[in-house]
Amino acid sequence: MAYETLLYEKRNGIGYVTVNRPDKLNALNRKVMDDLDDCFCAIKKDDEVRAAILTGAGEKAFVAGTDIGELAAQTPLEGKAMAERGQEILDRIEDLGKPVIAAVNGYALGGGCELAMACTLRIAAENARFGQPEVKLGIIPGYAGTQRLARLVGKGRALGLILSGEAVTAQEAYRIGLVNQVVPAAELMASVDALARKIMANAPLAIKFALEAVNHGLEMTQQQGQLLEATLFGLCCTTADMKEGTRAFLEKRPPQFTGK
Ligand code: COA
Repeated sequence: MAYETLLYEKRNGIGYVTVNRPDKLNALNRKVMDDLDDCFCAIKKDDEVRAAILTGAGEKAFVAGTDIGELAAQTPLEGKAMAERGQEILDRIEDLGKPVIAAVNGYALGGGCELAMACTLRIAAENARFGQPEVKLGIIPGYAGTQRLARLVGKGRALGLILSGEAVTAQEAYRIGLVNQVVPAAELMASVDALARKIMANAPLAIKFALEAVNHGLEMTQQQGQLLEATLFGLCCTTADMKEGTRAFLEKRPPQFTGK
Protein backbone atom coordinates (compact mmCIF):
# COMPACT_ATOMS: atom_id res chain seq x y z
CA MET A 1 0.00 0.00 0.00
CA ALA A 2 1.35 3.45 -0.94
CA TYR A 3 0.88 6.55 1.21
CA GLU A 4 1.35 10.20 0.28
CA THR A 5 3.27 11.17 3.43
CA LEU A 6 4.69 7.85 4.64
CA LEU A 7 7.05 5.23 3.31
CA TYR A 8 5.91 1.72 4.19
CA GLU A 9 7.82 -1.46 3.68
CA LYS A 10 7.26 -4.99 4.95
CA ARG A 11 10.32 -7.17 5.43
CA ASN A 12 10.68 -10.48 7.26
CA GLY A 13 7.70 -9.92 9.55
CA ILE A 14 8.48 -6.27 10.40
CA GLY A 15 6.49 -3.28 9.10
CA TYR A 16 8.80 -0.27 8.59
CA VAL A 17 6.90 3.04 8.74
CA THR A 18 8.77 6.26 7.88
CA VAL A 19 7.16 9.69 8.20
CA ASN A 20 8.27 11.29 4.96
CA ARG A 21 8.20 15.10 5.01
CA PRO A 22 11.92 15.73 5.58
CA ASP A 23 11.75 19.32 4.23
CA LYS A 24 9.34 20.12 7.11
CA LEU A 25 11.22 17.95 9.61
CA ASN A 26 8.39 15.39 9.29
CA ALA A 27 5.86 17.67 11.02
CA LEU A 28 2.48 16.03 11.56
CA ASN A 29 -0.09 17.69 9.32
CA ARG A 30 -3.59 16.31 8.83
CA LYS A 31 -2.54 14.09 5.92
CA VAL A 32 0.31 12.51 7.92
CA MET A 33 -2.10 11.74 10.75
CA ASP A 34 -4.63 10.18 8.31
CA ASP A 35 -1.87 8.13 6.69
CA LEU A 36 -0.53 6.97 10.09
CA ASP A 37 -4.04 5.92 11.04
CA ASP A 38 -4.55 3.93 7.81
CA CYS A 39 -1.09 2.39 7.97
CA PHE A 40 -1.31 1.21 11.58
CA CYS A 41 -4.87 -0.12 11.02
CA ALA A 42 -3.45 -2.17 8.13
CA ILE A 43 -0.51 -3.38 10.27
CA LYS A 44 -2.92 -4.48 13.00
CA LYS A 45 -4.88 -6.63 10.56
CA ASP A 46 -1.83 -8.02 8.75
CA ASP A 47 -0.91 -11.37 10.33
CA GLU A 48 2.40 -11.39 8.47
CA VAL A 49 3.54 -8.33 10.45
CA ARG A 50 4.67 -9.22 13.98
CA ALA A 51 6.28 -5.89 14.93
CA ALA A 52 6.51 -2.36 13.56
CA ILE A 53 9.34 0.18 13.48
CA LEU A 54 8.52 3.87 13.21
CA THR A 55 11.06 6.50 12.19
CA GLY A 56 11.42 9.82 10.36
CA ALA A 57 12.90 10.52 6.92
CA GLY A 58 16.13 12.50 6.63
CA GLU A 59 19.04 13.05 8.99
CA LYS A 60 17.59 15.70 11.28
CA ALA A 61 14.24 14.71 12.65
CA PHE A 62 12.07 11.89 13.87
CA VAL A 63 9.09 14.29 13.95
CA ALA A 64 9.48 17.99 14.90
CA GLY A 65 5.90 18.28 16.11
CA THR A 66 2.42 18.98 14.88
CA ASP A 67 2.41 21.18 11.78
CA ILE A 68 2.49 24.71 13.21
CA GLY A 69 1.08 26.21 9.98
CA GLU A 70 -2.10 24.13 10.33
CA LEU A 71 -2.20 24.65 14.09
CA ALA A 72 -2.16 28.42 13.78
CA ALA A 73 -5.43 28.42 11.83
CA GLN A 74 -7.48 26.36 14.32
CA THR A 75 -10.69 27.64 15.88
CA PRO A 76 -11.32 26.40 19.46
CA LEU A 77 -13.69 23.67 18.28
CA GLU A 78 -11.32 22.59 15.50
CA GLY A 79 -8.46 22.56 18.03
CA LYS A 80 -10.41 20.26 20.34
CA ALA A 81 -11.36 17.96 17.45
CA MET A 82 -7.74 17.91 16.24
CA ALA A 83 -6.45 16.93 19.70
CA GLU A 84 -9.09 14.22 20.05
CA ARG A 85 -8.31 12.79 16.61
CA GLY A 86 -4.57 12.77 17.38
CA GLN A 87 -5.17 11.11 20.74
CA GLU A 88 -7.35 8.45 19.09
CA ILE A 89 -4.68 7.60 16.48
CA LEU A 90 -1.89 7.42 19.08
CA ASP A 91 -4.10 5.25 21.31
CA ARG A 92 -4.49 2.85 18.39
CA ILE A 93 -0.71 2.66 18.00
CA GLU A 94 -0.30 2.00 21.72
CA ASP A 95 -3.02 -0.67 21.64
CA LEU A 96 -1.89 -2.33 18.40
CA GLY A 97 -1.38 -5.72 20.08
CA LYS A 98 2.08 -5.91 18.47
CA PRO A 99 5.22 -4.10 19.57
CA VAL A 100 5.95 -0.78 17.86
CA ILE A 101 9.49 0.50 18.29
CA ALA A 102 10.29 4.16 17.70
CA ALA A 103 13.69 4.64 16.05
CA VAL A 104 14.22 8.25 17.11
CA ASN A 105 16.72 9.62 14.62
CA GLY A 106 16.65 13.34 15.50
CA TYR A 107 14.17 15.91 16.85
CA ALA A 108 11.18 14.36 18.66
CA LEU A 109 9.38 17.52 19.71
CA GLY A 110 5.75 18.18 20.64
CA GLY A 111 3.59 15.75 18.67
CA GLY A 112 6.80 13.92 17.72
CA CYS A 113 7.64 13.23 21.35
CA GLU A 114 3.99 12.24 21.91
CA LEU A 115 4.10 9.88 18.92
CA ALA A 116 7.31 8.27 20.22
CA MET A 117 5.71 7.84 23.66
CA ALA A 118 2.70 6.04 22.13
CA CYS A 119 5.14 3.45 20.77
CA THR A 120 5.90 0.39 22.89
CA LEU A 121 9.65 1.09 23.13
CA ARG A 122 11.99 3.89 22.07
CA ILE A 123 15.59 3.67 20.88
CA ALA A 124 17.28 7.03 20.30
CA ALA A 125 20.26 8.01 18.20
CA GLU A 126 22.84 10.06 20.12
CA ASN A 127 21.79 13.19 18.21
CA ALA A 128 18.07 12.85 19.10
CA ARG A 129 16.38 15.62 21.10
CA PHE A 130 13.15 15.27 23.07
CA GLY A 131 10.81 17.97 24.30
CA GLN A 132 7.30 19.35 24.64
CA PRO A 133 7.77 22.97 23.48
CA GLU A 134 4.04 23.75 23.13
CA VAL A 135 3.96 26.42 25.87
CA LYS A 136 6.37 28.45 23.73
CA LEU A 137 3.53 28.63 21.17
CA GLY A 138 0.80 29.43 23.67
CA ILE A 139 -0.66 25.91 23.74
CA ILE A 140 -0.18 22.70 25.74
CA PRO A 141 0.54 19.17 24.48
CA GLY A 142 -2.63 17.85 22.83
CA TYR A 143 -1.81 14.31 21.73
CA ALA A 144 -1.80 12.92 25.30
CA GLY A 145 1.68 14.24 26.11
CA THR A 146 0.59 15.51 29.53
CA GLN A 147 -0.62 12.00 30.35
CA ARG A 148 1.97 9.69 28.78
CA LEU A 149 5.00 11.78 29.78
CA ALA A 150 3.89 11.90 33.43
CA ARG A 151 3.32 8.13 33.40
CA LEU A 152 6.69 7.43 31.77
CA VAL A 153 9.02 9.75 33.70
CA GLY A 154 6.93 10.81 36.73
CA LYS A 155 4.94 13.98 37.44
CA GLY A 156 7.85 16.18 38.56
CA ARG A 157 10.05 15.49 35.54
CA ALA A 158 7.09 15.71 33.15
CA LEU A 159 6.12 19.13 34.51
CA GLY A 160 9.76 20.22 34.28
CA LEU A 161 9.78 19.42 30.57
CA ILE A 162 6.27 20.66 29.78
CA LEU A 163 6.51 23.97 31.67
CA SER A 164 10.02 24.88 30.49
CA GLY A 165 9.38 23.77 26.91
CA GLU A 166 13.10 22.98 26.74
CA ALA A 167 14.41 19.96 24.83
CA VAL A 168 16.68 17.35 26.41
CA THR A 169 19.43 15.25 24.88
CA ALA A 170 19.07 11.54 24.14
CA GLN A 171 21.30 10.74 27.14
CA GLU A 172 19.11 12.81 29.47
CA ALA A 173 15.99 11.17 27.97
CA TYR A 174 17.58 7.81 28.79
CA ARG A 175 18.47 8.90 32.33
CA ILE A 176 14.86 9.87 33.10
CA GLY A 177 13.34 6.77 31.49
CA LEU A 178 11.89 8.42 28.40
CA VAL A 179 13.89 6.13 26.09
CA ASN A 180 15.00 2.53 26.49
CA GLN A 181 18.40 2.81 24.84
CA VAL A 182 20.74 5.34 23.18
CA VAL A 183 22.98 4.24 20.30
CA PRO A 184 25.28 5.94 17.77
CA ALA A 185 23.24 7.29 14.84
CA ALA A 186 24.91 4.89 12.39
CA GLU A 187 23.77 1.91 14.49
CA LEU A 188 20.18 3.04 15.09
CA MET A 189 18.30 0.92 12.55
CA ALA A 190 20.40 -2.19 13.21
CA SER A 191 19.79 -1.84 16.97
CA VAL A 192 16.04 -1.36 16.50
CA ASP A 193 15.94 -4.33 14.13
CA ALA A 194 17.79 -6.51 16.64
CA LEU A 195 15.38 -5.54 19.42
CA ALA A 196 12.36 -6.27 17.22
CA ARG A 197 13.79 -9.70 16.30
CA LYS A 198 14.49 -10.49 19.97
CA ILE A 199 10.83 -9.78 20.80
CA MET A 200 9.58 -11.69 17.73
CA ALA A 201 11.44 -14.81 18.88
CA ASN A 202 9.01 -14.99 21.81
CA ALA A 203 5.45 -16.33 21.81
CA PRO A 204 3.22 -13.86 19.87
CA LEU A 205 0.15 -14.27 22.06
CA ALA A 206 2.22 -13.86 25.22
CA ILE A 207 3.57 -10.59 23.75
CA LYS A 208 0.03 -9.44 22.95
CA PHE A 209 -1.29 -10.28 26.42
CA ALA A 210 1.73 -8.73 28.18
CA LEU A 211 1.11 -5.49 26.26
CA GLU A 212 -2.56 -5.62 27.22
CA ALA A 213 -1.80 -6.29 30.89
CA VAL A 214 0.65 -3.39 31.19
CA ASN A 215 -1.24 -0.86 29.04
CA HIS A 216 -4.69 -1.49 30.50
CA GLY A 217 -3.52 -2.52 33.96
CA LEU A 218 -1.87 0.89 34.46
CA GLU A 219 -5.25 2.57 34.04
CA MET A 220 -6.86 0.46 36.80
CA THR A 221 -6.37 0.08 40.53
CA GLN A 222 -3.56 -2.37 41.31
CA GLN A 223 -6.09 -4.95 42.45
CA GLN A 224 -8.05 -4.71 39.18
CA GLY A 225 -4.78 -4.79 37.21
CA GLN A 226 -3.74 -7.94 39.02
CA LEU A 227 -7.08 -9.56 38.22
CA LEU A 228 -6.57 -8.67 34.55
CA GLU A 229 -3.04 -10.11 34.75
CA ALA A 230 -4.25 -13.37 36.33
CA THR A 231 -7.00 -13.71 33.70
CA LEU A 232 -4.58 -13.16 30.82
CA PHE A 233 -2.09 -15.53 32.48
CA GLY A 234 -4.85 -18.17 32.51
CA LEU A 235 -5.59 -17.46 28.86
CA CYS A 236 -1.90 -18.05 28.03
CA CYS A 237 -2.25 -21.50 29.61
CA THR A 238 -4.79 -22.43 26.90
CA THR A 239 -2.34 -21.76 24.05
CA ALA A 240 -0.32 -24.22 21.99
CA ASP A 241 2.61 -21.82 22.40
CA MET A 242 2.54 -22.24 26.20
CA LYS A 243 2.70 -26.02 25.76
CA GLU A 244 5.49 -25.69 23.20
CA GLY A 245 7.49 -23.14 25.26
CA THR A 246 7.43 -25.19 28.45
CA ARG A 247 8.03 -28.52 26.63
CA ALA A 248 10.95 -27.06 24.65
CA PHE A 249 12.56 -25.88 27.89
CA LEU A 250 12.22 -29.30 29.47
CA GLU A 251 13.53 -31.00 26.30
CA LYS A 252 16.47 -28.53 26.19
CA ARG A 253 15.70 -27.27 22.66
CA PRO A 254 14.62 -23.91 21.19
CA PRO A 255 10.82 -23.44 20.99
CA GLN A 256 8.92 -23.27 17.69
CA PHE A 257 6.07 -20.84 18.36
CA THR A 258 3.08 -20.71 16.03
CA GLY A 259 1.07 -17.90 17.59
CA LYS A 260 -1.75 -20.29 18.46
N1 COA B 1 5.55 22.57 11.87
C1 COA B 1 5.68 23.05 10.63
N2 COA B 1 6.86 23.23 10.03
C2 COA B 1 7.97 22.89 10.74
C3 COA B 1 7.89 22.39 12.04
C4 COA B 1 6.61 22.20 12.61
N3 COA B 1 6.43 21.69 13.83
N4 COA B 1 9.15 22.15 12.48
C5 COA B 1 9.99 22.51 11.47
N5 COA B 1 9.27 22.95 10.43
C6 COA B 1 9.77 23.44 9.13
C7 COA B 1 10.36 24.85 9.23
O1 COA B 1 9.35 25.82 9.17
C8 COA B 1 11.26 24.85 8.02
O2 COA B 1 10.48 25.03 6.87
P1 COA B 1 10.94 26.07 5.72
O3 COA B 1 12.27 25.51 5.23
O4 COA B 1 9.86 25.97 4.69
O5 COA B 1 11.09 27.40 6.37
C9 COA B 1 11.78 23.43 7.99
O6 COA B 1 10.86 22.63 8.71
C10 COA B 1 13.15 23.26 8.62
O7 COA B 1 13.07 23.75 9.94
P2 COA B 1 14.09 24.86 10.54
O8 COA B 1 13.40 25.55 11.67
O9 COA B 1 14.64 25.71 9.44
O10 COA B 1 15.27 23.90 11.07
P3 COA B 1 16.30 24.23 12.24
O11 COA B 1 17.31 23.15 12.18
O12 COA B 1 16.75 25.63 12.19
O13 COA B 1 15.45 24.05 13.60
C11 COA B 1 13.89 22.97 15.09
C12 COA B 1 14.93 22.80 13.97
C13 COA B 1 13.25 21.59 15.33
C14 COA B 1 14.58 23.47 16.37
C15 COA B 1 12.82 23.99 14.64
O14 COA B 1 12.37 23.64 13.34
C16 COA B 1 11.63 24.08 15.54
O15 COA B 1 11.70 24.65 16.62
N6 COA B 1 10.47 23.49 15.11
C17 COA B 1 9.23 23.56 15.83
C18 COA B 1 9.24 22.63 17.00
C19 COA B 1 7.94 22.74 17.78
O16 COA B 1 7.63 23.76 18.37
N7 COA B 1 7.17 21.65 17.78
C20 COA B 1 5.94 21.56 18.49
C21 COA B 1 4.80 21.98 17.66
S1 COA B 1 3.28 21.80 18.54
